Amino acid sequence: MQQTTDDHSVEISPAILYFGTPVVLVGTRNEDGSPHLAPISSVFWLGHRAVIGLGGNTHTLANLRRERACVLNLPSVEQADAVDRIARTTGASPVPERKVGWGYRHERDKFGLAGLTPAPGRSVDAPRALECPVQMEAEVAAFHSLAADDPERRGHVWTVELEVVRVHVAEEIRLPGHANRIDPDRWRPLIMSFQQFYGLGPQVRPSRLAGIEEELYRTPSRVPSSVG
Ligand SMILES: Cc1cc2nc3c(=O)[nH]c(=O)nc-3n(C[C@H](O)[C@H](O)[C@H](O)COP(=O)(O)O)c2cc1C
Repeated sequence: MQQTTDDHSVEISPAILYFGTPVVLVGTRNEDGSPHLAPISSVFWLGHRAVIGLGGNTHTLANLRRERACVLNLPSVEQADAVDRIARTTGASPVPERKVGWGYRHERDKFGLAGLTPAPGRSVDAPRALECPVQMEAEVAAFHSLAADDPERRGHVWTVELEVVRVHVAEEIRLPGHANRIDPDRWRPLIMSFQQFYGLGPQVRPSRLAGIEEELYRTPSRVPSSVG
């Protein structure tokens, strides 16, 4: 097909399509009951379901298959150093060969290395990271292999569908006057884009979508509502 004169795009072949998503510290329990933490950034939410993406050789996936529960701890830009301290570490032992080549090493105590404080979930047996301003307790609903249609790539990467059953947030990011809302001007998620850390800039312009009352999005869920 012919390009139009105002098409200034170039075609490239990126090795990875890492266009920017929030960082999540996934808290799970190890087989011996100790707390485990892993940074990821493949995540989205729809209603009270979350979908995360995990490499098939992550220790976290093994923990999730056994325990079927986790906490999605969302760091803000304030926790960027903590997240970076546990980058290129894995709870898996031995360290998978590919990750050895990428400079990964085994680390049992990632909470300690990050300098974050574990605390038990209230609905699920998985650790919250207390310094993270958002902590979502979740149960595993399903595991899906990515590229299940391709025999060569099937099973290498998994998406895990989670049901969020309890949400903890720091009081400072609550929208004043609203028991169950977050103030997007105060919530400063840590974003990873092409392997680098970023924050969000200020609001760009008022949004027409925001004319929809947020409560209208509420679907049946097991998350207890705040009364405060
Ligand atoms: C900010 C950040 C984002 C990452 N995103 C992902 C991701 O989305 N999925 C994934 O499997 N690994 C991701 N990684 C690499 C994991 O941390 C790595 O797979 C690690 O082995 C997971 O820990 P675990 O093996 O102890 O579960 C990310 C690492 C960092 C530092």
